[in-house]
Formats: sequence, structure tokens, C-alpha cells
Amino acid sequence: MQLPRKVSIIGTGSYVPERVLTNHDLEKMVDTTDEWIYARTGMRERHIAAENEAASDLGAAAAVKALEDAGVSAEEIDLIIVATLSPDMFFPSTACFVQEKIGAKNAFCYDLGAACSGFLYALDAAKNQIAAGAVETALVIGSEKMSTFVDWEDRSTCILFGDGAGAAVLKAGGEGRGIMQSVMGSDGGLADLLMTPGGGSRTPISHEMIEQKQQYLTMQGREVFKHAVTRMAEAVVQALEKNEISADDINCFIPHQANIRIIDAIAKRLGVADRMYTNVEKYANTSSAALAIALDEAVKDGTITKGDLVVLTVFGGGFTWGANVLEWGK
Ligand code: UT7
Repeated sequence: MQLPRKVSIIGTGSYVPERVLTNHDLEKMVDTTDEWIYARTGMRERHIAAENEAASDLGAAAAVKALEDAGVSAEEIDLIIVATLSPDMFFPSTACFVQEKIGAKNAFCYDLGAACSGFLYALDAAKNQIAAGAVETALVIGSEKMSTFVDWEDRSTCILFGDGAGAAVLKAGGEGRGIMQSVMGSDGGLADLLMTPGGGSRTPISHEMIEQKQQYLTMQGREVFKHAVTRMAEAVVQALEKNEISADDINCFIPHQANIRIIDAIAKRLGVADRMYTNVEKYANTSSAALAIALDEAVKDGTITKGDLVVLTVFGGGFTWGANVLEWGK
């Protein structure tokens, strides 16, 4: 039997739209304050895409940077997976639009739906296809235009989200252990705590559905918060066990960037507060893009260097969650 091949991330990139929306801007839109938002979430500002920018535009911009970082041409990409809950349209996939924009004409492309957990799920899917020998080089993207799907009159959700994209290029081989074994889980029984109820085949677009604002994201914040902390902390422990690595040996933990209080609670449970990476202050929650953007920034600002062991962990609608460990080989 052929053994699985080692797989490494050989380049990363990220892109956030130009327009910045601060907490003070939000004070003029809904009944909120900078103090409340910062104290409850750790967010100061978020980026909002232009009207003519869709998820594939953000994703393509991040992808171009990741390819440049990897020193790989678009034609060398065999597979593109875009994780998104805000696709350009139901079909074709946002991945196909990205393919066209960057000229990756030799790739096959699909989208992956795991809400905020999507980037880690996509990383795992691409890694396994490379490990099995099915493809050589893959482009994994998390891209979101969340601003389209939040109700800008609902202060309990609109303050939380931002737009952006992050990308990683994966290839067989590399130094160190590369991307290791993931732990992932889902609980569809809790779907109603975080969802966009309308616009699909369950509740198709109609005047009534629009009047009821079912096209927008809904969330039971407190419940989601509790599950996010528990699931991410558990997943990290399980991923460390699965890969036979101690938390003490990890150089950097990158959690989903949904709320600084969630991140702090996980850090406390795991006793790793000194190594938690966060940028939620600048971008708010960019859903599936959050982990990808944070990974790129952690590499570019020198937090992660060659030989470092990095833990990634995510949580999102579904519910979905997961964690992975990788050894940075670049
Ligand atoms: O990425 C996917 C996963 N998403 C998450 O992980 C998000 C998880 N949840 C959270 O991050 C937090 O639950 C929130 C930040 C959404 C809310 O924080 P909280 O500490 O759980 O507040 P709360 O929802 O319990 O609301 C507390 C109070 C309420 O008022 P009353 O009922 O106590 O009078 C809200 O009406 O704060 C009020 N409130 C606000 N006040 C000012 C809610 N939103 C706002 C606001 N500004 N924007």
C-alpha cells in the first residue's frame, strides 16, 4: 500500500477591502457604543467590501498574494477550494469564479460549506487529496462578504462581522511534519442557534420572507459563545493527542476570531494565554476568512517562523468545529 505523502503550506496571502467601519461609525447606525463593542468582543473596526466586490474578488486578491508568496504560477494549481458562506451566487461555485480571475486554468474547483469552520475543513480536504496522491498543488481560500448577510439594523449581530479573505498554497513534500491530522466535528441538532434561515430551498426568496428579514444571519449569541469555547478547547486537546504533541511544545495557537472573550476563555482553559494569536480588534469576525487571514498575518509579522509548531482551531454554524496542528516549514 502506498503511504500518505507529507503536505506543507508553501505560501499564504490575505486581502481586506479598503473601507474601514469603526465602532464609532456603528454608533451612528444602531443603538450601541464603542465601549460596549470593545468590552464585549475586543473589536475596534472591521473592513467592508465595496458594492462591486463579491467573495470571489476578495478571494482572488488573497490568492494572488499567496501564489506570489509560494512562488507558484496559477497554471500549476490542480485544485481550488473556497470556503464561504457568502458565495457570489448559489452556483457556479465561487471557486470557479476565482479560477477565472487568477487564470488557474488547470484546476478543478469547488466550494465548501462549513460556516466559520470552513477554512480548516478545506485545508484538511486539500491536504488529504495531496497526501493520497490525487493532486500535487492546491489553493485553499476562506473568503467572505459578510456585510451582505447581516441586518444593519440589528445591533446584536451587525457589529460582529467584517469582510475579507485569506489563502494558502499547499504542496506535497516540504520540511518538517507539515500539516498533521485534523480533529473535526459537527452537531446539526444546534443548527438553529446560528443560521441564515431564508433564501434557500427551505424558505425560498419571497416578499414575505424579505419582510421578515430571513435573508439575514441570526444568532443566539450567549449559547453560541458557550459552545464555541467548549468545542474549540476540546478540539485542540484532541488534536494534540492525535498528533502526539504537548501543548508546551506549541509556539502559536490561532483560534477562530469571533470574540476576544472566547479566545481568552480558551487560552485560560488550555493555559496558553502567552501564545494565542489574535487580530479580531482590526477585522472583527470574518467567518471562514478569519483563520486564513490570521495565519497569513502571523507568518508575515514573524510570530510564526520556520520549525514552529502551530495549532489552528475553528468553530461555526452547523455547529461545526475542528483543530489541526502544523509544523511551519518555510
Ligand atoms: O463565528 C461564529 C460564532 N459566533 C460567535 O462565536 C459569537 C458568540 N457570541 C458572542 O460573541 C457574544 O454572545 C455577543 C458579543 C454576541 C454578545 O455578548 P454577550 O455578553 O453574550 O451579550 P448579550 O447578548 O447577553 O447581551 C447583553 C446586553 C443585552 O441587553 P439586556 O438584555 O441585558 O438589557 C443586549 O440587548 O447587551 C445588549 N446588546 C447591546 N448593547 C449595546 C446587544 N448588542 C448590543 C450592542 N450594543 N451592539
